[in-house]
Amino acid sequence: MSLFPKGATEEDIERVYLEAHKETRIDYSKTGGFFGPKLRNINHLEVGRSKVINSWYVRTAEYILVFYERTLEWLKKVNRALYPRKTTIYGKRKDAYITGKLTFAMRDDYAIPLHNMPVRFWARTWFGGWRLFAEGYSDRDGLVRIDYDYLESRRFRYKTFHFEICQLSHFFFNPNDRVGSIEWEVFERIKIPKSDLTGMGYNIGNLQLFFWEYRRDVAFPRVVINDHDEDSPEYYSDGRNDAIQQQFVPIELTKEKHLVQIKLDPDSISIPSIQADYPKNLTVAMEEKLPYSTRCDYWFGRRMMNGMNCATFLPDAKEAERYWVKYFGACDYEVNDEYAFPTVEIKFHIPKGGLPIPEEIITTGPVSSHDKDQFIKRNFTPADGDRWEQAKRVARVSGGLSTELDDHFAGTHVNTEQFSIAARRNLRKSPLATLLFPHLKEVALINHSADSILIGPGYIPKASALTARGIVQRCTDMMGVMDWKNWEPMEVINERHTYAKAENLFWEVVGEFVDNFFEEHEVGIIEEWFEVFRFSEDLVQNSAEAFHSSINWGTLTKEEKEREEKRVEYYHARFRFDPDLERVRYKGKLRAMSPITTNPLAPEPGDMENLKQACKYAIMMATFMHTWVNEHQYEDIGEILYSSLGLRFGEHKDGIFRDESDYSISPDLTRATQMMWFSNLLSRTEYGFITRNEENDIDPLFRDILEKKRSEFKNLYVEIDNIESRTNI
Ligand SMILES: [Fe+2]
Repeated sequence: MSLFPKGATEEDIERVYLEAHKETRIDYSKTGGFFGPKLRNINHLEVGRSKVINSWYVRTAEYILVFYERTLEWLKKVNRALYPRKTTIYGKRKDAYITGKLTFAMRDDYAIPLHNMPVRFWARTWFGGWRLFAEGYSDRDGLVRIDYDYLESRRFRYKTFHFEICQLSHFFFNPNDRVGSIEWEVFERIKIPKSDLTGMGYNIGNLQLFFWEYRRDVAFPRVVINDHDEDSPEYYSDGRNDAIQQQFVPIELTKEKHLVQIKLDPDSISIPSIQADYPKNLTVAMEEKLPYSTRCDYWFGRRMMNGMNCATFLPDAKEAERYWVKYFGACDYEVNDEYAFPTVEIKFHIPKGGLPIPEEIITTGPVSSHDKDQFIKRNFTPADGDRWEQAKRVARVSGGLSTELDDHFAGTHVNTEQFSIAARRNLRKSPLATLLFPHLKEVALINHSADSILIGPGYIPKASALTARGIVQRCTDMMGVMDWKNWEPMEVINERHTYAKAENLFWEVVGEFVDNFFEEHEVGIIEEWFEVFRFSEDLVQNSAEAFHSSINWGTLTKEEKEREEKRVEYYHARFRFDPDLERVRYKGKLRAMSPITTNPLAPEPGDMENLKQACKYAIMMATFMHTWVNEHQYEDIGEILYSSLGLRFGEHKDGIFRDESDYSISPDLTRATQMMWFSNLLSRTEYGFITRNEENDIDPLFRDILEKKRSEFKNLYVEIDNIESRTNI
């Protein structure tokens, strides 16, 4: 019997789960010290050797560098204290003006004005003091005109003049009330020689600003980041960088040790020894307590439903209580020859009030190096003995990679980034900035890192079937099923569907918070409706092509057509995408995102509701949806032989249908240590939580509403203190 380990019951597994969970739970408290090895910052992580500084010589140099940087920071503070930039306006008359026009800078958007950008006109005295002469905003057409006192500017005491364009930087909430304050940072500063200010008007001309520009090399919304250290639209907070350093250095050193061992003495290292060197994860700990507890059918169904994958169960068309979970594999994406990535369809029986029990597994596509037929099918049932056990592992692996790419990377990271870019480009005076920015910050930065750590030359193309190009192709398709409109939390199948219950509960929390915010700020939101209009335009026009519309149905074979129909049906259910909505066609493509409003002047009936829904969706993706898949990586893909992101074809005629003891199909030693590094990196270094509110940027109301549901969440195995306020890892 494979439903439970021999002689064990459901209660036994639940007991070892709770014990192992407690034992392996990740603690996000601070560790490490000043004299420990240092990781320069999150941007410097690499799959190979990250820039960990672990020799005394380099560490001394690093110490001096840190000292130098801190001294610089201190000098800047002194400078700010000596030369405060007070907001008192100097000069009483308004008889001269600075004018100009602000637009974006890319070839295809340099005609788009930058509206509502805060601008300031400063004079500096001979002693370095700052004197504010005028301030204001660009208008809807990007035009700037701020008036100042001409005679005042002629006084000898002023040496230079500066025109500054600012962007919104951070939000802070007073911990005792809900009053938020905004920090502005200088985005661009232009020096104006005093000798040029001769007439009554000075025109700075048309300034094209490279401000949160969309990348044009991928067909879904990503921001341009040329250099994450020097020229980035935003930067990580210090706290975020500290957290990764404190949590991650031991893991990084373990990977380094393995890479050296593999190079110098490969016989001294094996898959089990690699596993043993990393912190114990949930499945390893459970197996120690009760062998087979994580390989049995009960656990397989329980994790598919309530683990990292939190799969979507589609009811069978004919049989009652039968459901299908589908993980689509390589399909037509670019793949390598080393790894298999078959499509896996799993039939489950979900009895009333029970957990899903797997009844059948169907794989489609190549599973050995001897047969590369894309549509070859294999069926397995529990009666198949060892083959059934192997098929469950194949299902876990295809499920793991699908979840990583489709749900984690596309569904939360890139999905949140598309809101982040549109918000940053357009929301400034609107109260919506206060609502959204704390939840949208840093996602563009972590996605930029993911391009190199996980995609591009990174881990996934080397440890799975998909090439970097294949991942981008897949992400483009996935982004074609992301839309805020008509999105609803997952339908709860029964009492044991604790994941779906938690998702619904969190959606209620977000709903109450956003509804409340809108009640309080409705006037302000309507007053700045133009910002909402531009936000909506950017969201829609830059969103990916709707997946179902991007398929060239006429060119497909019968089998391809069947496969694509299945994918469309499953993805629409999975991402709760409503294909029947009327969508915008822009530049020849039907766009996945629905418009919030089409009126630049004022909301039309239904628009405010649209806006609320879009905000709720963005916050939901950035917080709960990301946290779930991110923190459970450590549990569900934290054991090399239980579930990696790829199984190699190997040389055996049975291909990937082999026991776990055949290491020729598991990840090789390098990929194995990188896999452990990667799941630990992502799950262990979270920072920025709603209840912990480390940076005072979370609206206390959101925190309070969540706090009231603490025990309800706990009953669903969710610790609210671990729910992130933003997607930044
Ligand atoms: Fe993540």
